[in-house]
Amino acid sequence: MKAVYPGSFDPITLGHVDIVRRALKIVDEVVVLVTENPKKSYLFSLDERKRMVEEALRGIEGVTVESYRGLLVDYLKMKGIRLLIRGMRAVTDFEYEIQMALANKKLFPELETVFLISEERFSFLSSSLVKEVAFYGGDVSGWVPPNVVEALKEKLRRECDEDKGEGQR
Ligand code: COA
Repeated sequence: MKAVYPGSFDPITLGHVDIVRRALKIVDEVVVLVTENPKKSYLFSLDERKRMVEEALRGIEGVTVESYRGLLVDYLKMKGIRLLIRGMRAVTDFEYEIQMALANKKLFPELETVFLISEERFSFLSSSLVKEVAFYGGDVSGWVPPNVVEALKEKLRRECDEDKGEGQR
């Protein structure tokens, strides 16, 4: 059975990787779908996020990585996939996740959403937290894959250079 694990992945964290690995214990194939929440603004572009996810998950059998802009259920219908995986970090995720699962189900009645509870050591993690700590020069290597540590350094260095350039103009 094939399932889609959708998210913004701005950037992917070890918490996401944990969900992918655990999802593979219950399905044969997981499509990690890098997509967009229209309410969010992103540090990394859709392509950059997809490339980071690909690199972070390279070598894990049964995983494919795709990106998509649009309604999630349209992607699922187009691909004929009826199973969604979502991670649940804490009770605080519950309301938002239920709302999304019910909305998706309304739009695509054959769809089922399976929630996997995040491992406790990752339950506090979020991409925003990672970005904030990295922004102030903190060590995020225990929270994200090595390629993401590098991508964050590079991105933040570039943004800093651009800001300096603007300041000189
Ligand atoms: N470990 C660590 N962090 C985790 C995590 C885990 N296991 N699971 C979730 N998170 C964090 C993410 O890092 C993210 O942190 P941030 O808010 O600081 O960026 C947060 O939890 C939520 O992330 P995500 O699961 O990616 O949800 P999202 O709200 O960014 O995006 C989409 C959800 C993209 C799946 C949703 O908006 C979508 O389906 N978009 C397509 C358009 C659509 O169909 N909309 C209608 C939906 S009903």
